Amino acid sequence: MFYITTAIDYTNGAPHIGHAYEKVLADVITRYRRLAGDDAYYLTGVDQHGQKVQQTAEKEGVHPATFAQRNTKKFLKLWEKLNVNYDGWAETMDERHKACVQKILQKLHDEGLLYKKAYKGFYSIRQEQFLTDKERGEDGEFGAEWGEVTEIEEENWYFKLSDQVEWMRGFVESHPDFVIPNFRHGEVLNAIERAADNDLCISRPKSRLRWGIELPFDQDYVTYVWFDALINYISFAGYLAEEGSDLPEFEKLWPADIHVLGKDILVPSHSIYWPAMLHAMGFTDDQMPTLLVHGWWNIRGEKMSKSIGNVVDPDALADQFGAETLRYYLVRDIITGKDSNFDADRLVMLYNTELANDLGNLCNRALNMSKRSLGGVMEQSDFDDEDCQTLRQSLSDATATYQEAMNRYDTAAALQALNNHVSFCNGFAERNKPWELAKDEAQSARLSAVLYHMVESCAHISVLLSPVTPEACVKIQNQLRLENLTEIKLGNLSWGMIPNGHQIGKPKPVFPRIQIDSE
Ligand code: ME8
Ligand code: MG
Repeated sequence: MFYITTAIDYTNGAPHIGHAYEKVLADVITRYRRLAGDDAYYLTGVDQHGQKVQQTAEKEGVHPATFAQRNTKKFLKLWEKLNVNYDGWAETMDERHKACVQKILQKLHDEGLLYKKAYKGFYSIRQEQFLTDKERGEDGEFGAEWGEVTEIEEENWYFKLSDQVEWMRGFVESHPDFVIPNFRHGEVLNAIERAADNDLCISRPKSRLRWGIELPFDQDYVTYVWFDALINYISFAGYLAEEGSDLPEFEKLWPADIHVLGKDILVPSHSIYWPAMLHAMGFTDDQMPTLLVHGWWNIRGEKMSKSIGNVVDPDALADQFGAETLRYYLVRDIITGKDSNFDADRLVMLYNTELANDLGNLCNRALNMSKRSLGGVMEQSDFDDEDCQTLRQSLSDATATYQEAMNRYDTAAALQALNNHVSFCNGFAERNKPWELAKDEAQSARLSAVLYHMVESCAHISVLLSPVTPEACVKIQNQLRLENLTEIKLGNLSWGMIPNGHQIGKPKPVFPRIQIDSE
């Protein structure tokens, strides 16, 4: 079973384009794995606890639970709109999750891996963490990225992170694929060295934060939000679940094939705390997850932020341009692992070029001409020539490149490979001019072959593109009257999906051009 999870989103506000990207990326990967023949399970959800949620809720004068649930609805609504098809939904307020977190805490406590101590230091509410002198800027102050920083002195519970450092170092050094893409490997190794000096504070006193999961062995405290949130990947996979629970069977899912997360939460949470926690719980090297770390969408080279006021709203974009247009753009205009600039003009340009013009045009002309000149009956005629052979080669090359790229989660390269073949097909149509061939009885075998090659290409593209634009691809398949393609696996996709004598249906544009009023 291919088990894929994403980071769970903070519910102190509405979803933004970064959230949408991550969930769509994971959805595309899930759909692709199924197409490749795997069973897959996709878990995503929301992070509802912590000081940020409590603070924002207080400002609005509502209970944090009410506030978190209200925002959770915005996420649920967006995922439905964007056709993000998860199998499991993780909400950290869920009682089943709380029970799991408490069992884990109790076990670590019983085994002596947690201890209580007093600490005086600076605390960033925005990042929900204690700061050390390493976080000070050159001027000796804590930078604006930490938000409000206050000095506090309090007793807390600590997890013996330092005990795990030696194992961590060995594990990360011997598992170069722990983090994808691997250019981030060094970043993780450096972070391990920094972690060696400090244990992880896993509690917050209720006097300061009540919005969290109570420690089972000390009622004056709630669990640190990151310790709680990371556990979602196993709690909602059925780890330590009650008998008869409706959660999945843990052994079937774990270890996660990939956790999909952004670069800002690789270090220290996902690459240090999380494996250290798992190892302390008794998970072995073979039971560690793999991290797929994506980059960020920026706006004109600047970080997206509420204070700058440049936050991009995916809900409004989906309404304006269509959910599948947004899905396509989000996995097409960024190289997985790198940053990109979100640009609505490029969204329109890429859609209009690659889907409306290239693919849309290919489908329309292939189906229209077949209807008009062959009565919609597709024949694998005896005619063959170099151009037809080259088209078949172009399709098999594109398919191979697409698969190779998708297997390493490079959606942009995969989509470019498909577009290359579509462009080849449009050139093929221009060269072979089926509209001319149709006028000459003597060319009927060639006409059949040319149109067959074009229509067969549409069939293949409708399968390969389906993880990204599932609804449009079903429409193409319906027009082709090849409903069986909706269930096909990549291993069975080969030349000749259209049977001899097959009757296609009515063509209807699937990717209407987006018209932008010129200002
Ligand atoms: O960090 N571009 O939640 P979060 C791309 N609750 N991705 C972005 C992005 C951007 N501009 N901004 C944010 C949290 N993200 C924690 C996670 S997991 C156990 C707990 C990504 O709402 C970010 O990198 O701040 C992260 O993977 C996800 O959105 C949620 O961010
Ligand atoms: Mg964040």
